[in-house]
Amino acid sequence: MITSRFVPFLFVLFIGGCVGRPFYPLPSKMADSNRQPLQTSRPYNIAHRGSNGELPEETAAAYMRAVEEGADFIETDILASKDGVLICFHDVTLDDTTDISEHKQFANRKRTYEVQGENTTGWFIVDFTLKELKLLRVKQRYKFRDQQYNGKFSIITFEEYISIALDAPRVVGIYPEIKNPVFINQRVKWSNGKRFEDKFVETLMKYGYKGSYMSKDWLKQPVFIQSFAPTSLVYISNMTDSPKIFLIDDVTIPTQDTNQDKMTIGYVQSYWEITSDSYLEFIKEYVIGIGPWKDTVVPVADNYLLTPTDLVSKAHAHDLQVHPYTYRNENSFLHFNFHEDPYAEYDYWINKIGVDGLFTDFTGSFHNFQEWTSPLSPVDDGSASKLLHRIALLISSKGKI
Ligand SMILES: *[C@@H]1O[C@H](CO)[C@@H](O)[C@H](O)[C@H]1NC(C)=O
Ligand SMILES: *[C@@H]1O[C@H](CO)[C@@H](O)[C@H](O)[C@H]1NC(C)=O
Repeated sequence: MITSRFVPFLFVLFIGGCVGRPFYPLPSKMADSNRQPLQTSRPYNIAHRGSNGELPEETAAAYMRAVEEGADFIETDILASKDGVLICFHDVTLDDTTDISEHKQFANRKRTYEVQGENTTGWFIVDFTLKELKLLRVKQRYKFRDQQYNGKFSIITFEEYISIALDAPRVVGIYPEIKNPVFINQRVKWSNGKRFEDKFVETLMKYGYKGSYMSKDWLKQPVFIQSFAPTSLVYISNMTDSPKIFLIDDVTIPTQDTNQDKMTIGYVQSYWEITSDSYLEFIKEYVIGIGPWKDTVVPVADNYLLTPTDLVSKAHAHDLQVHPYTYRNENSFLHFNFHEDPYAEYDYWINKIGVDGLFTDFTGSFHNFQEWTSPLSPVDDGSASKLLHRIALLISSKGKI
């Protein structure tokens, strides 16, 4: 299939051609009908925080790189600023992945808050307005990854992230997380008594994200809404029919909403309970799948895999997809069984465990693995040449700006 080699190269040109343009015009919704559709025949390549193995996480550059490398979905964590703007950022504090400590004007803004039952100290996102957050620059979380992009990219909003997906040269889905909803609702207030979850769903609807899994609307703008908090997923269930994924941590960790009102539907004690058949039976009314930590599916001891649990077969028996996290190329994350080969890890999870998608820090590697082992059938309806033509037009029009 010629196009599969050829097109990624052109995507590089396309991204390169965009450099001089303002980063976030409103989504252009350009030529929807000509875009290469989402592939749905093989497990989903979910670009965890963008291609954060290469570029600082959750930045526009990391997301654009993931699109270029073949992501089916770009994944993000949604939090809120002091002035109620939804933004893409993983931690509730800015300390580990930004240059906040170098901004002297914010030195007195450090606080200690209780987050999920633990006192945490740092510069909290919820104490900064969007304008202030935009003064910061993002950096790599891990010291052993490429540091050359530190200080180059800013934090982006949920809307800016959506515009990257909608502007992609093929259909690319989004996979936003309702992150730390209990904490955000305690610290950030919106008008009319609106909750974080309300603002989250409003944003998706504003940009046309709707429809059940595999519906026509969904295939046009695919989305999975994810959360560790079952109460948030239940809360939004009558606001949107977009598919939802229930995230599962280590089974010994309490869920985020454990200490909330015990009468709330969805209340559970710990992830131990939620991997039970009866809980999966309950939650499947609200979600289309689960997103477990991979060690919850296959436990690990001394960096070797133990016998897999029955979580995947249980979930599949309840018609739930399984999208585990997080796959990373570096030896420090690879279990010894995989002989320091990330492709061996993908092979195991796709072909032995049988997952339906996975979150990876290295979308390009997973894409290569899938292209080698299960290439998509060639498109023979002329859409490939239409795509090339459209890219050529785009490149020439960008040149004029
Ligand atoms: C957090 O710190 C406050 C003030 O020192 C204390 O009252 C509270 O019990 C602490 N919470 C936790 C979970 O340790
Ligand atoms: C969702 O259901 C709750 C009660 O279960 C109700 O108060 C709320 O108005 C409903 N929202 C929508 C959008 O239907």
